[in-house]
Amino acid sequence: MSLLTRKSVAELRLEADKGTLRRSLGKLNLTALGVGSIIGTGIFVLTGTAASQNAGPALVISMVIAGIACAFAGLCYAELAAMIPVAGSAYTYAYATVGEVFAWIIGWDLILEYALSMSTIAVGWSGYFVSLMRDLGWTVPAALTASPGVPVALAQGGVIAGVFNVPAAVIVLLVTALLVIGIRESANTNTLLVVIKSVVLVIFVAVGIAYVRRDNLTPFIPPNTGEFGHFGWSGVLRGSAVMFFAYIGFDAVSTAAQEAKNPQRDLPFGILVSLALCTVLYIAVAIVLIGIVPYTKLNVADPIAVGIEATGLTWFSPIVKVSALFGLFSTMLVQLLGQTRIFFSMSRDGLLPPLFGRVHPRFRTPHLSTILTGCVVSVAAGLLPLTTLSQLVSMGTLLAFTLACIGIVILRRTSPSLERPFRTPGMPWVPVLGALACVVQMVGLPWATWARLIIWLVLGMVVYVAYGRHHAVSARERHIPQHAAAD
Ligand code: ALA
Repeated sequence: MSLLTRKSVAELRLEADKGTLRRSLGKLNLTALGVGSIIGTGIFVLTGTAASQNAGPALVISMVIAGIACAFAGLCYAELAAMIPVAGSAYTYAYATVGEVFAWIIGWDLILEYALSMSTIAVGWSGYFVSLMRDLGWTVPAALTASPGVPVALAQGGVIAGVFNVPAAVIVLLVTALLVIGIRESANTNTLLVVIKSVVLVIFVAVGIAYVRRDNLTPFIPPNTGEFGHFGWSGVLRGSAVMFFAYIGFDAVSTAAQEAKNPQRDLPFGILVSLALCTVLYIAVAIVLIGIVPYTKLNVADPIAVGIEATGLTWFSPIVKVSALFGLFSTMLVQLLGQTRIFFSMSRDGLLPPLFGRVHPRFRTPHLSTILTGCVVSVAAGLLPLTTLSQLVSMGTLLAFTLACIGIVILRRTSPSLERPFRTPGMPWVPVLGALACVVQMVGLPWATWARLIIWLVLGMVVYVAYGRHHAVSARERHIPQHAAAD
């Protein structure tokens, strides 16, 4: 490895050891962090969107495809996370494997995964909030419940265009405030919220299964409408890319590496166990939901609640909504936590200003970075529609996963003797198939989403040339003595 372009793994480990973040997370916390990050707007909202717009009952196949891609990528992430237990996720791994420019591209791309997915989840949260308020007899002004131009149905009939999604923007600010206070409080709160949302989905499956009607599941793959991505096999493919969003989050476990008590052992455990638990739960929820309600009726903001109402068990509906609200809240918590930790690493490397690496003297959290990110995410949640957000998040994350899968193959070749507490099985097939599965799903996304990704990456290169490139040089110079010591 060239000192001037890459960091050695030993250097990264040294950094982890002298880290200033508190080491407070154990195996259970990390698994909860994963599940907390995975279960969110994907299962609670996008299941209905993708079934009604893309795949119909075949959404179950879409989910299996997305789950398989994530399992492959998850195995690669587990090896990287155990080998390089430093906050920063795929960004840090890229720094160690392929160098600074590549790392910057991944770090910049991960903003789509973490920060933008928080905006997406906030929009999902807003849908359940508005629905619950309606049940309680309080109507939030319709124009303030959706992003500009998005049609909102009025209770008295008719449709109005949204102006700003106020509930989505406000909930982001609340999550931000909690994270500024501290990781320990946040992790404990997270564990409780994870239990609530998982249990409610399990109950949904257990209660709903008796109401599944065969008719609703036939034809299993509705014929294509003539447009790519609208039913038929292309719809299954697009459905998998949309539902991929629902699986995003297991890699957030790796962003907490510097806060883990025993990262080498517990990170792979947290990643793989949380992914496995969620995959099984998702497939069960999808079969039951589409079996209860005809898929054509699922393009709503609160499909799980609509599903339960269709069974006649109306008493359970408010419980589902309240649990969804708490559940989505916990997902946002993990996403923002992950984003600020990635910024933390990028700032230490000089690619972002020092502000992103500053830690609060009492709370020991990157408070300034959290507040700044929270404010931007809040505005995005208020202004952008769910489909645009979720598809861009899926696109950005699929790219990051592809690069992580490629990275692991490179690292096995360039540094074969490095200590690997967890080894990805089936080399090189697992990473190769993982990368392929991700690329295939990217192909399933609309051209407009590709265009947005390209614009985002070009913008990233401009920022790198204007700022990161110069500042990273001085950061590396500061690191040289440590590097020498590590070698
Ligand atoms: N997987 C997360 C969700 O569905 C991002 O909200």
